[in-house]
Amino acid sequence: MIVTTADLFKQAYGKYAIGAYNINNLEQTMGLFQGNLDSKAPFIIQISKGARSYTHKAMLEGMIRAADDVFPDAIFAVHLDHGDEQTCYDCIESGFYSSVMIDASAESFEDNIAITKRVVDAAHAKGISVEAELGKLGGVEEHVSVSEADAKLTNPAEAAEFIARSGCDSLACAIGTSHGAFKFSGTQGLHFEVIEDIQKRCPGFPLVMHGSSSVPQEEVARINAAGGDLKGAKGVDENQFAKAATLGVTKVNIDTDGRLVWCRVHREFFRDFPEKFDLRDPGKVFMPVYAEFIAKKNVKLGSAGQLDAVRAALKG
Ligand code: G3H
Ligand code: 13P
Ligand code: ZN
Repeated sequence: MIVTTADLFKQAYGKYAIGAYNINNLEQTMGLFQGNLDSKAPFIIQISKGARSYTHKAMLEGMIRAADDVFPDAIFAVHLDHGDEQTCYDCIESGFYSSVMIDASAESFEDNIAITKRVVDAAHAKGISVEAELGKLGGVEEHVSVSEADAKLTNPAEAAEFIARSGCDSLACAIGTSHGAFKFSGTQGLHFEVIEDIQKRCPGFPLVMHGSSSVPQEEVARINAAGGDLKGAKGVDENQFAKAATLGVTKVNIDTDGRLVWCRVHREFFRDFPEKFDLRDPGKVFMPVYAEFIAKKNVKLGSAGQLDAVRAALKG
């Protein structure tokens, strides 16, 4: 069942974080639904601009509608990840999305507010919520100076003003994470003091953690042993999700870790079975492995086991 992102946030805030997982293809979609059902978790499907143009945006929509039929017990929201203004309007008009992200974080503070507010006005008119972003996502090593860190991290006072003036429904904050498999070259420093401060200024307001893949070292080692070259890949400690959730992080974005699972399964498969060429053969291995990956992630996020409570709350 497709629900609003706001409904999921209302249930989760302060208690657990909802996994927001990007999808691009059929096998990922099947594994995603199965893993969330196996772990009894509500979830958010994220669609990036790149995913929309990989085949055709209608393919993703059709796949999600079909998965909703195939897995009738699933409860999830559909979200545009890192949208520009036009893509947000396209998703809002489509009537399919639960929420959109307008990412104008590269613009000036004032322009970011103005663009976000335009998207918020259009989205709210259709009952859709909006995630915005403030700050610059990027790894912050523990040895960097306070001023270097501050240049990247979300400023809590600005965040409070941004939320009030833009009318956004959730905010992606820069706390030292970055996208991709190479998040930190040295010791990681996640700046929880930033979200703690924002939570004090904006109690109850949902915050979002991007760049949250943990880049498991075992996964990286297996990929490299099967012919890959991902030396130095490093991610976020997933044991920190629980603390982040108590500080108002309600949505945690994970994409890279899923890509690593896909890469490992396919590299090992073709290394071990060089005579095979049917695309369904590695696909059959990948889907249950991906489902298991999702289920384990949901345990770390605290969303595992929450499905029945969410269903009851939505009915009530
Ligand atoms: O934040 C980026 C997500 O991992 C989506 O990546 O734009 O390559 O689909 P993508
Ligand atoms: P990762 O690259 O850490 O998986 O982050 C994904 C993300 O933030 C999508 O918006
Ligand atoms: Zn992101």
